[in-house]
Amino acid sequence: MISLYGILAKVAARNDARETIKMKKNRFFQQIVFTVLLGLASTLVQGAGQTQPVQAEERRALFPSTKMINQGRDVAAAACASCHGIDGVSVIKGTPHLAGQRAVYLYRTQQAYNEGKRFDETNKHKGFLKDEAVLSVAAYYASLTPTQITVPMVEPDADMSEEDAFVGIREAMTRCIKCHGDTGNSDSSGMPSLTAQHPDYFVSSMMGYLDGSRSHNLMKRLAGKLDEVTLRDMGVFYAVQKPMRTETQGQGDANVGHRLSQPCASCHGVDGNAHKADMPTLAGQDSKYFIKAMKHYKDGKRLHQKMFEAVENLSEQDMIDLATFYATQEPVQRNVRPPLKSSEWIARCERCHGIEGNSSDPRFPMLAGQDKDYLVKSLRLSASGENGHTTMLKMADRLSALDIERIATYFASQPPRAVVYISLPCEDE
Ligand code: HEC
Ligand code: HEC
Ligand code: HEC
Ligand code: HEC
Repeated sequence: MISLYGILAKVAARNDARETIKMKKNRFFQQIVFTVLLGLASTLVQGAGQTQPVQAEERRALFPSTKMINQGRDVAAAACASCHGIDGVSVIKGTPHLAGQRAVYLYRTQQAYNEGKRFDETNKHKGFLKDEAVLSVAAYYASLTPTQITVPMVEPDADMSEEDAFVGIREAMTRCIKCHGDTGNSDSSGMPSLTAQHPDYFVSSMMGYLDGSRSHNLMKRLAGKLDEVTLRDMGVFYAVQKPMRTETQGQGDANVGHRLSQPCASCHGVDGNAHKADMPTLAGQDSKYFIKAMKHYKDGKRLHQKMFEAVENLSEQDMIDLATFYATQEPVQRNVRPPLKSSEWIARCERCHGIEGNSSDPRFPMLAGQDKDYLVKSLRLSASGENGHTTMLKMADRLSALDIERIATYFASQPPRAVVYISLPCEDE
């Protein structure tokens, strides 16, 4: 039995791969015919593990009889067509198209509505259909050929690969460039380098100017204009830039500084490269800024108990030597992942939702050709956890508004394709 499953899985995987290539080659290829091994389908889709396997009852919607489809059509005409269209093409903006939508997904969604596990503001879906009617209407809409009526097609690799993952903060950052440069590496004496810092420290340092534990009027004014999400994104921006050692290394004695740095190593790292997220890296830092910061800790202009204790007994010459030691160390970039570009997000979505959003797993909804406003709304709700999509919650919570807009435009503009499932003869266990 195991070997039979093994062979069948390979056949299906190969078919799947062939179809993928064909789909890529021929955009207007209307119908996908491929084989799904029921019960095994889950092993073919990455990330599908969290989603329940197809149940025996649900298979009936995948291989419906004519009678079942006709029954589903009657249900649709009576209860759904006013919004979703009898042809499954919604005429109301923000209402999803259902033509060709995958059957098991339709069935489960409808059930989730029935059981109050999924909500929508129209409240038109709750509790009025019997299970048989839900199954047949799912089979009916799934059997229809989808038509595309939305936005013009967008190629992910043509328009989106060069896109700027930081586009959302570029405008706010124009104010920082004058002093901190394009990348945050200090290029004038007295200016701190912002690279090689963890975003957590970046945010807390900006908050320090606001709450008065640091005194610098201009930084206070600038920080006050930025919300926390923007601050965080800026922190990520600087953290993923290549850090450079400052040219302002000062006149201190690096060897003496090295000796004096022993008590600092537990927090700032042996070579000044800190590892904890809330600790600043000192390696390569501008020596003039360094000395000023140390003096401010000592005289209380900059408030921090641990740092006060660290500098309390240091002379000015000690600070100068320490500054030179750290300034001559090589800064190391923090282990922070740059945000995904929209094209990279899309590649992730396609692992479950199929190439171009044409899902080949009956449990995962087709996104291709879906109403764009609906996709935007759905992704926003997923991000905030309001629509009861459990699998999606994990995916969408880091999507920015701009990502959502781009991703929705992309999927809405892909040609939707119906799927025909063919049952392979399979021995009973
Ligand atoms: C009054 C209009 C209206 C009626 C009638 C209606 N729907 Fe809907 N339906 C909507 C709207 C609006 C949404 C989007 C809800 C949301 O934003 O979550 C939706 C969402 C859905 C979804 C989720 C779509 C997806 O891709 O996730 C399914 C499935 C669905 N409806 C099926 C049905 C079926 C089947 C019927 C008939 C039994 C029906 N609906 C009746 C308006 C309606
Ligand atoms: C007019 C020049 C100027 C501009 C413009 C400016 N900064 Fe600064 N920034 C400074 C100076 C000077 C300091 C050091 C202040 C101090 O002594 O605490 C500083 C400190 C900082 C620090 C703390 C560094 C550390 O290691 O703790 C951060 C973070 C920072 N700036 C971010 C920004 C951001 C983000 C912007 C744009 C919104 C910006 N700065 C705009 C001059 C500037
Ligand atoms: C117990 C941990 C700890 C020790 C020990 C410590 N520091 Fe710090 N240091 C910190 C923390 C936390 C900050 C950030 C405080 C803040 O936001 O102002 C900091 C900030 C600094 C800064 C300012 C960095 C910047 O980018 O603005 C300098 C310079 C510095 N430390 C030097 C030293 C030196 C030199 C020693 C040893 C003599 C030392 N520290 C010992 C925890 C420590
Ligand atoms: C691990 C598999 C998986 C990944 C990856 C995934 N999804 Fe989903 N998605 C699902 C499942 C399963 C559902 C059905 C609802 C549920 O159970 O959460 C769904 C539902 C949706 C819906 C609602 C569909 C509808 O018609 O109401 C949208 C929109 C969606 N996904 C978009 C995306 C986008 C955009 C991405 C990429 C950023 C993505 N998904 C990534 C599995 C996934």
